[in-house]
Amino acid sequence: MLLLKGGTVYGKNTGPADVLIDGGKIIDVAHAISETEEMTVLDVSGLAVAPGLVDLHVHFREPGFEYKEDIMTGAAAAAAGGVTTCLCMPNTSPVIDSAETVNLVTGKALNAPIRVLTAGAVTVGQKGAELTDFNALKSAGAVALSDDGLPVQSAALMRKAMQHAKASGLTIISHCEDEEMVKNYGVNEGAVSEKLALQGRPAIAEEIMVARDVMLANETGAHVHIAHVSTAGAVDIIRKARQAGANVTAETCPQYFSLTEDEVLRQGALARVNPPLRTGNDVEAIIAGLQDGTLDAIATDHAPHSMEEKTKPLPDAMSGLVGLETSLALALTHLYHTGKFSLEKIIALMSANPAKIIGIDAGVLDTGACADIVIFDHNEEWTVDPEKFKSKGRNTPFGGQKLCGRIRYTISRGEIVYKQDK
Ligand code: DOR
Ligand code: ZN
Repeated sequence: MLLLKGGTVYGKNTGPADVLIDGGKIIDVAHAISETEEMTVLDVSGLAVAPGLVDLHVHFREPGFEYKEDIMTGAAAAAAGGVTTCLCMPNTSPVIDSAETVNLVTGKALNAPIRVLTAGAVTVGQKGAELTDFNALKSAGAVALSDDGLPVQSAALMRKAMQHAKASGLTIISHCEDEEMVKNYGVNEGAVSEKLALQGRPAIAEEIMVARDVMLANETGAHVHIAHVSTAGAVDIIRKARQAGANVTAETCPQYFSLTEDEVLRQGALARVNPPLRTGNDVEAIIAGLQDGTLDAIATDHAPHSMEEKTKPLPDAMSGLVGLETSLALALTHLYHTGKFSLEKIIALMSANPAKIIGIDAGVLDTGACADIVIFDHNEEWTVDPEKFKSKGRNTPFGGQKLCGRIRYTISRGEIVYKQDK
Protein backbone atom coordinates (compact mmCIF):
# COMPACT_ATOMS: atom_id res chain seq x y z
CA MET A 1 0.00 0.00 0.00
CA LEU A 2 1.20 3.47 -0.85
CA LEU A 3 0.07 6.49 1.16
CA LEU A 4 0.43 9.97 -0.34
CA LYS A 5 0.53 12.16 2.71
CA GLY A 6 -0.05 15.85 3.15
CA GLY A 7 -0.78 17.05 -0.37
CA THR A 8 -3.55 19.13 -1.86
CA VAL A 9 -5.79 16.86 -3.86
CA TYR A 10 -7.43 18.04 -7.07
CA GLY A 11 -10.01 15.31 -7.39
CA LYS A 12 -13.75 15.05 -6.97
CA ASN A 13 -13.22 17.52 -4.15
CA THR A 14 -10.29 19.90 -3.97
CA GLY A 15 -8.42 20.39 -0.74
CA PRO A 16 -5.91 18.92 1.65
CA ALA A 17 -6.23 15.14 1.77
CA ASP A 18 -4.21 11.93 1.87
CA VAL A 19 -4.53 9.30 -0.84
CA LEU A 20 -4.23 5.57 -0.18
CA ILE A 21 -3.34 3.25 -3.06
CA ASP A 22 -3.49 -0.53 -3.21
CA GLY A 23 -3.61 -3.05 -6.02
CA GLY A 24 -3.33 -0.33 -8.64
CA LYS A 25 -6.39 1.48 -7.34
CA ILE A 26 -7.15 4.43 -5.12
CA ILE A 27 -8.78 2.88 -2.08
CA ASP A 28 -9.24 6.01 0.02
CA VAL A 29 -9.07 9.80 -0.24
CA ALA A 30 -9.48 11.36 3.17
CA HIS A 31 -8.13 13.81 5.68
CA ALA A 32 -5.31 12.42 7.83
CA ILE A 33 -5.39 8.72 6.96
CA SER A 34 -3.59 6.87 9.75
CA GLU A 35 -0.39 5.11 8.82
CA THR A 36 -0.06 1.39 9.36
CA GLU A 37 2.94 -0.90 9.02
CA GLU A 38 2.01 -2.20 5.60
CA MET A 39 2.01 1.30 4.10
CA THR A 40 4.86 2.98 2.29
CA VAL A 41 4.48 6.69 2.96
CA LEU A 42 5.33 9.35 0.40
CA ASP A 43 5.48 12.83 1.89
CA VAL A 44 3.81 15.11 -0.65
CA SER A 45 3.23 18.08 1.61
CA GLY A 46 3.08 21.36 -0.25
CA LEU A 47 2.45 19.56 -3.54
CA ALA A 48 -0.54 19.22 -5.85
CA VAL A 49 -1.90 15.68 -6.25
CA ALA A 50 -3.97 15.39 -9.42
CA PRO A 51 -5.26 12.75 -11.81
CA GLY A 52 -2.61 11.57 -14.26
CA LEU A 53 -2.66 13.54 -17.50
CA VAL A 54 -4.24 12.18 -20.67
CA ASP A 55 -2.58 13.23 -23.93
CA LEU A 56 -4.71 12.59 -27.02
CA HIS A 57 -2.00 13.34 -29.56
CA VAL A 58 1.47 11.79 -29.55
CA HIS A 59 3.75 10.27 -32.18
CA PHE A 60 5.72 7.34 -30.77
CA ARG A 61 7.00 6.39 -34.24
CA GLU A 62 6.70 2.62 -33.84
CA PRO A 63 6.80 0.78 -36.16
CA GLY A 64 9.33 2.14 -38.60
CA PHE A 65 10.87 5.31 -37.19
CA GLU A 66 12.39 4.02 -33.96
CA TYR A 67 15.44 6.24 -34.47
CA LYS A 68 13.14 9.20 -33.63
CA GLU A 69 11.26 7.55 -30.75
CA ASP A 70 9.93 4.16 -29.74
CA ILE A 71 7.06 3.16 -27.53
CA MET A 72 9.26 2.68 -24.46
CA THR A 73 11.12 6.00 -24.77
CA GLY A 74 7.90 7.80 -25.65
CA ALA A 75 6.22 6.29 -22.61
CA ALA A 76 9.17 7.28 -20.40
CA ALA A 77 8.86 10.86 -21.70
CA ALA A 78 5.15 10.74 -20.96
CA ALA A 79 5.78 9.57 -17.40
CA ALA A 80 8.30 12.40 -16.93
CA GLY A 81 5.60 14.79 -18.11
CA GLY A 82 2.94 13.52 -15.71
CA VAL A 83 1.08 11.79 -18.54
CA THR A 84 -0.36 8.40 -17.60
CA THR A 85 -2.40 7.75 -20.74
CA CYS A 86 -1.49 8.75 -24.26
CA LEU A 87 -2.92 8.18 -27.69
CA CYS A 88 -0.51 7.41 -30.53
CA MET A 89 -1.13 8.68 -34.02
CA PRO A 90 -0.84 6.07 -36.79
CA ASN A 91 1.53 7.84 -39.23
CA THR A 92 4.17 5.15 -38.79
CA SER A 93 5.79 2.80 -41.32
CA PRO A 94 3.86 0.70 -42.01
CA VAL A 95 0.87 2.87 -41.16
CA ILE A 96 -1.27 1.58 -38.28
CA ASP A 97 -4.16 0.68 -40.57
CA SER A 98 -4.82 -2.99 -39.81
CA ALA A 99 -5.54 -5.27 -36.87
CA GLU A 100 -1.96 -6.58 -37.14
CA THR A 101 -0.34 -3.16 -36.76
CA VAL A 102 -2.72 -2.22 -33.93
CA ASN A 103 -1.77 -5.49 -32.20
CA LEU A 104 1.90 -4.71 -32.65
CA VAL A 105 1.50 -1.40 -30.81
CA THR A 106 -0.80 -2.68 -28.09
CA GLY A 107 1.54 -5.65 -27.59
CA LYS A 108 4.57 -3.40 -27.04
CA ALA A 109 2.47 -1.08 -24.91
CA LEU A 110 1.92 -3.86 -22.38
CA ASN A 111 5.47 -3.31 -21.10
CA ALA A 112 5.25 0.48 -21.04
CA PRO A 113 5.27 2.32 -17.70
CA ILE A 114 2.09 4.17 -18.62
CA ARG A 115 -1.01 3.38 -20.64
CA VAL A 116 -0.26 3.68 -24.37
CA LEU A 117 -3.29 3.60 -26.67
CA THR A 118 -3.39 3.91 -30.40
CA ALA A 119 -5.57 5.39 -33.09
CA GLY A 120 -6.04 3.48 -36.32
CA ALA A 121 -5.77 5.16 -39.70
CA VAL A 122 -8.91 6.36 -41.48
CA THR A 123 -7.59 5.35 -44.91
CA VAL A 124 -5.39 2.47 -46.03
CA GLY A 125 -1.76 3.59 -45.85
CA GLN A 126 -3.06 7.12 -45.08
CA LYS A 127 -3.31 7.48 -48.83
CA GLY A 128 -6.71 9.14 -48.67
CA ALA A 129 -8.29 6.76 -51.17
CA GLU A 130 -9.82 3.75 -49.41
CA LEU A 131 -11.27 3.43 -45.92
CA THR A 132 -9.72 0.98 -43.47
CA ASP A 133 -11.84 -1.65 -41.71
CA PHE A 134 -13.02 0.39 -38.71
CA ASN A 135 -14.62 -2.56 -36.93
CA ALA A 136 -11.47 -4.65 -37.28
CA LEU A 137 -9.35 -1.77 -35.94
CA LYS A 138 -11.70 -1.31 -33.01
CA SER A 139 -11.78 -5.03 -32.18
CA ALA A 140 -7.97 -5.04 -32.18
CA GLY A 141 -7.96 -2.19 -29.65
CA ALA A 142 -7.80 1.08 -31.59
CA VAL A 143 -9.68 3.72 -29.58
CA ALA A 144 -10.05 6.36 -32.30
CA LEU A 145 -9.40 6.97 -35.99
CA SER A 146 -7.10 9.53 -37.57
CA ASP A 147 -5.08 10.25 -40.69
CA ASP A 148 -3.05 12.78 -38.71
CA GLY A 149 -0.18 14.27 -40.67
CA LEU A 150 -1.74 13.31 -44.01
CA PRO A 151 -5.34 14.41 -43.57
CA VAL A 152 -8.18 13.05 -45.73
CA GLN A 153 -8.60 15.56 -48.54
CA SER A 154 -11.73 14.29 -50.23
CA ALA A 155 -14.91 15.58 -48.59
CA ALA A 156 -16.84 12.66 -50.09
CA LEU A 157 -14.48 10.14 -48.51
CA MET A 158 -14.49 11.95 -45.16
CA ARG A 159 -18.30 11.87 -45.25
CA LYS A 160 -18.24 8.13 -45.81
CA ALA A 161 -15.63 7.77 -43.05
CA MET A 162 -17.88 9.62 -40.62
CA GLN A 163 -20.88 7.48 -41.51
CA HIS A 164 -18.82 4.35 -40.82
CA ALA A 165 -17.21 5.81 -37.70
CA LYS A 166 -20.61 6.59 -36.25
CA ALA A 167 -21.74 3.02 -36.88
CA SER A 168 -18.54 1.68 -35.23
CA GLY A 169 -18.78 4.08 -32.31
CA LEU A 170 -15.32 5.54 -32.95
CA THR A 171 -14.26 9.18 -32.89
CA ILE A 172 -12.45 10.65 -35.87
CA ILE A 173 -9.55 12.89 -34.90
CA SER A 174 -9.03 15.32 -37.72
CA HIS A 175 -5.83 17.16 -38.59
CA CYS A 176 -7.36 20.04 -40.51
CA GLU A 177 -5.27 21.42 -43.36
CA ASP A 178 -6.11 21.64 -47.05
CA GLU A 179 -3.18 20.04 -48.79
CA GLU A 180 -3.19 22.20 -51.88
CA MET A 181 -3.01 25.35 -49.79
CA VAL A 182 -0.09 24.18 -47.66
CA LYS A 183 2.87 23.65 -49.87
CA ASN A 184 5.24 22.79 -47.10
CA TYR A 185 7.58 24.79 -44.82
CA GLY A 186 5.58 24.69 -41.57
CA VAL A 187 5.49 28.48 -41.39
CA ASN A 188 2.37 30.62 -41.15
CA GLU A 189 1.51 32.65 -44.25
CA GLY A 190 2.03 36.25 -43.22
CA ALA A 191 4.70 38.65 -42.07
CA VAL A 192 7.27 35.96 -41.24
CA SER A 193 6.83 33.86 -44.40
CA GLU A 194 7.17 37.07 -46.40
CA LYS A 195 10.31 38.08 -44.56
CA LEU A 196 11.82 34.66 -45.22
CA ALA A 197 10.53 34.61 -48.80
CA LEU A 198 8.91 31.22 -48.19
CA GLN A 199 5.49 30.03 -49.21
CA GLY A 200 3.51 29.92 -45.96
CA ARG A 201 0.61 27.83 -44.71
CA PRO A 202 -2.39 30.16 -44.47
CA ALA A 203 -4.90 30.13 -41.61
CA ILE A 204 -7.67 29.55 -44.13
CA ALA A 205 -6.14 26.17 -45.06
CA GLU A 206 -6.93 25.01 -41.51
CA GLU A 207 -10.24 26.83 -41.20
CA ILE A 208 -11.74 25.53 -44.43
CA MET A 209 -11.14 21.96 -43.30
CA VAL A 210 -12.49 22.65 -39.80
CA ALA A 211 -15.62 24.08 -41.42
CA ARG A 212 -15.91 21.03 -43.68
CA ASP A 213 -15.50 18.57 -40.84
CA VAL A 214 -17.94 20.22 -38.43
CA MET A 215 -20.49 20.33 -41.27
CA LEU A 216 -19.93 16.65 -41.95
CA ALA A 217 -20.16 15.87 -38.24
CA ASN A 218 -23.43 17.72 -38.13
CA GLU A 219 -24.81 15.92 -41.14
CA THR A 220 -23.64 12.41 -40.23
CA GLY A 221 -24.00 12.65 -36.45
CA ALA A 222 -20.46 11.30 -36.08
CA HIS A 223 -18.20 12.54 -33.32
CA VAL A 224 -15.31 14.55 -34.71
CA HIS A 225 -12.43 15.74 -32.60
CA ILE A 226 -10.46 18.59 -34.17
CA ALA A 227 -6.74 18.15 -33.53
CA HIS A 228 -4.25 20.88 -32.62
CA VAL A 229 -6.40 23.96 -33.30
CA SER A 230 -4.13 26.92 -34.06
CA THR A 231 -6.17 29.80 -35.50
CA ALA A 232 -8.71 32.33 -34.25
CA GLY A 233 -10.98 31.50 -37.18
CA ALA A 234 -10.97 27.79 -36.35
CA VAL A 235 -11.92 28.54 -32.73
CA ASP A 236 -14.79 30.64 -34.02
CA ILE A 237 -16.10 27.96 -36.37
CA ILE A 238 -15.95 25.31 -33.64
CA ARG A 239 -17.67 27.62 -31.14
CA LYS A 240 -20.58 28.26 -33.49
CA ALA A 241 -20.86 24.60 -34.51
CA ARG A 242 -21.04 23.53 -30.88
CA GLN A 243 -23.66 26.17 -30.12
CA ALA A 244 -25.66 24.68 -33.01
CA GLY A 245 -25.34 21.23 -31.44
CA ALA A 246 -22.69 19.52 -33.61
CA ASN A 247 -20.96 16.54 -32.00
CA VAL A 248 -17.57 18.21 -32.13
CA THR A 249 -14.77 18.45 -29.59
CA ALA A 250 -11.37 20.06 -30.01
CA GLU A 251 -7.87 20.29 -28.62
CA THR A 252 -5.03 22.73 -28.85
CA CYS A 253 -1.37 22.37 -27.85
CA PRO A 254 0.97 24.42 -25.62
CA GLN A 255 2.85 25.80 -28.65
CA TYR A 256 -0.34 27.48 -29.85
CA PHE A 257 -0.97 29.37 -26.62
CA SER A 258 2.65 30.18 -25.80
CA LEU A 259 4.46 30.98 -29.07
CA THR A 260 3.88 33.04 -32.19
CA GLU A 261 5.22 32.84 -35.74
CA ASP A 262 8.05 35.16 -34.65
CA GLU A 263 9.65 32.13 -33.02
CA VAL A 264 10.54 30.91 -36.51
CA LEU A 265 12.73 34.00 -36.97
CA ARG A 266 14.51 33.24 -33.71
CA GLN A 267 14.78 29.46 -33.89
CA GLY A 268 14.29 28.45 -37.52
CA ALA A 269 13.31 24.83 -38.05
CA LEU A 270 13.04 24.15 -34.31
CA ALA A 271 9.83 26.20 -34.50
CA ARG A 272 8.63 24.48 -37.67
CA VAL A 273 5.41 22.58 -37.01
CA ASN A 274 2.17 21.72 -38.80
CA PRO A 275 -0.13 23.51 -38.36
CA PRO A 276 2.34 26.37 -37.97
CA LEU A 277 2.79 28.80 -35.11
CA ARG A 278 0.45 31.72 -35.80
CA THR A 279 0.02 35.36 -34.72
CA GLY A 280 -0.52 37.03 -31.36
CA ASN A 281 -4.18 37.45 -32.24
CA ASP A 282 -4.50 33.70 -32.77
CA VAL A 283 -2.78 33.00 -29.45
CA GLU A 284 -5.34 35.22 -27.68
CA ALA A 285 -8.22 33.45 -29.43
CA ILE A 286 -6.85 30.02 -28.48
CA ILE A 287 -6.68 31.09 -24.84
CA ALA A 288 -10.23 32.47 -25.03
CA GLY A 289 -11.36 29.19 -26.62
CA LEU A 290 -9.86 27.23 -23.74
CA GLN A 291 -11.48 29.60 -21.27
CA ASP A 292 -15.01 29.31 -22.63
CA GLY A 293 -14.87 25.57 -23.29
CA THR A 294 -14.81 25.74 -27.10
CA LEU A 295 -11.50 23.90 -26.84
CA ASP A 296 -11.94 20.97 -24.47
CA ALA A 297 -8.41 19.68 -24.12
CA ILE A 298 -4.69 20.38 -24.23
CA ALA A 299 -2.70 17.72 -26.10
CA THR A 300 0.96 17.89 -27.06
CA ASP A 301 1.32 16.65 -30.66
CA HIS A 302 4.62 15.27 -29.34
CA ALA A 303 6.48 14.79 -32.64
CA PRO A 304 10.07 13.67 -32.13
CA HIS A 305 12.59 13.94 -34.96
CA SER A 306 16.35 13.42 -35.05
CA MET A 307 18.55 16.49 -34.66
CA GLU A 308 19.82 15.87 -38.18
CA GLU A 309 16.26 16.19 -39.48
CA LYS A 310 15.69 19.40 -37.51
CA THR A 311 18.98 21.18 -38.14
CA LYS A 312 18.55 21.32 -41.89
CA PRO A 313 17.67 24.66 -43.45
CA LEU A 314 14.05 25.55 -42.73
CA PRO A 315 12.63 24.45 -46.12
CA ASP A 316 14.21 20.98 -45.85
CA ALA A 317 13.67 20.25 -42.16
CA MET A 318 10.93 18.06 -40.70
CA SER A 319 7.90 19.59 -38.99
CA GLY A 320 7.04 18.89 -35.39
CA LEU A 321 8.27 19.36 -31.85
CA VAL A 322 8.49 17.24 -28.73
CA GLY A 323 6.07 18.26 -26.03
CA LEU A 324 5.48 15.61 -23.39
CA GLU A 325 8.10 16.82 -20.92
CA THR A 326 7.10 20.48 -20.99
CA SER A 327 3.31 20.50 -21.46
CA LEU A 328 2.14 20.79 -17.86
CA ALA A 329 4.80 23.40 -17.04
CA LEU A 330 3.84 25.44 -20.12
CA ALA A 331 0.17 25.32 -19.17
CA LEU A 332 0.98 26.37 -15.60
CA THR A 333 3.34 29.12 -16.73
CA HIS A 334 1.17 30.63 -19.46
CA LEU A 335 -2.34 29.92 -18.18
CA TYR A 336 -2.20 29.55 -14.40
CA HIS A 337 0.58 31.90 -13.34
CA THR A 338 -0.85 34.61 -15.60
CA GLY A 339 -4.03 34.45 -13.51
CA LYS A 340 -6.18 33.39 -16.45
CA PHE A 341 -7.01 29.83 -15.36
CA SER A 342 -7.49 28.00 -12.08
CA LEU A 343 -5.42 24.91 -11.36
CA GLU A 344 -8.64 22.85 -11.44
CA LYS A 345 -9.41 24.05 -14.95
CA ILE A 346 -5.93 23.24 -16.24
CA ILE A 347 -6.09 19.77 -14.73
CA ALA A 348 -9.52 19.18 -16.32
CA LEU A 349 -8.19 20.30 -19.73
CA MET A 350 -5.32 17.83 -19.41
CA SER A 351 -7.01 14.83 -17.78
CA ALA A 352 -10.78 14.44 -17.31
CA ASN A 353 -11.77 16.23 -20.53
CA PRO A 354 -9.50 14.31 -22.92
CA ALA A 355 -10.48 11.04 -21.23
CA LYS A 356 -14.15 11.82 -21.86
CA ILE A 357 -13.49 12.70 -25.50
CA ILE A 358 -12.36 9.18 -26.35
CA GLY A 359 -14.56 7.55 -23.72
CA ILE A 360 -11.87 5.97 -21.57
CA ASP A 361 -11.88 5.42 -17.86
CA ALA A 362 -9.18 7.90 -16.78
CA GLY A 363 -8.75 11.42 -15.51
CA VAL A 364 -10.44 10.78 -12.17
CA LEU A 365 -8.89 10.96 -8.72
CA ASP A 366 -11.38 9.39 -6.36
CA THR A 367 -11.91 6.27 -4.26
CA GLY A 368 -12.27 3.29 -6.58
CA ALA A 369 -10.51 4.92 -9.54
CA CYS A 370 -7.34 3.65 -11.19
CA ALA A 371 -4.29 5.02 -9.34
CA ASP A 372 -2.99 7.21 -12.17
CA ILE A 373 -1.67 10.32 -10.45
CA VAL A 374 0.63 13.26 -11.11
CA ILE A 375 2.24 15.06 -8.19
CA PHE A 376 3.72 18.48 -8.87
CA ASP A 377 4.93 21.71 -7.34
CA HIS A 378 3.07 24.41 -9.23
CA ASN A 379 5.48 27.08 -8.02
CA GLU A 380 8.86 25.50 -8.67
CA GLU A 381 10.90 27.22 -11.36
CA TRP A 382 13.16 25.20 -13.62
CA THR A 383 14.96 25.61 -16.91
CA VAL A 384 14.17 23.32 -19.83
CA ASP A 385 17.24 21.27 -20.75
CA PRO A 386 16.50 19.07 -23.79
CA GLU A 387 19.57 16.95 -23.01
CA LYS A 388 17.73 15.70 -19.94
CA PHE A 389 14.63 14.56 -21.83
CA LYS A 390 13.65 10.90 -21.63
CA SER A 391 12.39 11.26 -25.19
CA LYS A 392 14.85 10.50 -27.98
CA GLY A 393 13.69 13.80 -29.49
CA ARG A 394 15.52 16.98 -28.52
CA ASN A 395 13.50 19.11 -30.93
CA THR A 396 11.91 21.63 -28.63
CA PRO A 397 11.64 25.38 -29.13
CA PHE A 398 11.46 25.73 -25.33
CA GLY A 399 15.08 24.76 -24.56
CA GLY A 400 16.65 27.20 -22.10
CA GLN A 401 13.29 28.67 -21.13
CA LYS A 402 12.48 29.13 -17.48
CA LEU A 403 9.10 27.59 -16.66
CA CYS A 404 7.13 27.56 -13.46
CA GLY A 405 5.64 24.26 -12.30
CA ARG A 406 7.53 21.01 -11.94
CA ILE A 407 6.55 17.37 -11.76
CA ARG A 408 7.83 15.48 -8.75
CA TYR A 409 6.25 12.05 -9.18
CA THR A 410 4.09 10.23 -11.66
CA ILE A 411 2.14 7.18 -10.54
CA SER A 412 0.66 4.81 -13.12
CA ARG A 413 -1.67 2.02 -12.03
CA GLY A 414 -0.37 2.36 -8.48
CA GLU A 415 3.36 2.26 -9.32
CA ILE A 416 5.74 5.21 -9.14
CA VAL A 417 6.93 5.43 -12.76
CA TYR A 418 8.71 8.78 -12.54
CA LYS A 419 10.51 10.57 -9.75
CA GLN A 420 12.08 13.95 -10.32
CA ASP A 421 15.83 13.75 -10.76
CA LYS A 422 17.44 16.00 -8.19
O1 DOR B 1 4.30 19.01 -37.31
C1 DOR B 1 3.77 17.92 -37.41
N1 DOR B 1 4.47 16.79 -37.20
N2 DOR B 1 2.49 17.85 -37.72
C2 DOR B 1 1.88 16.67 -37.99
O2 DOR B 1 0.72 16.66 -38.27
C3 DOR B 1 2.63 15.41 -37.97
C4 DOR B 1 3.81 15.54 -37.11
C5 DOR B 1 4.79 14.42 -37.29
O3 DOR B 1 4.35 13.26 -37.40
O4 DOR B 1 5.98 14.67 -37.25
ZN1 ZN C 1 -1.46 16.59 -36.90
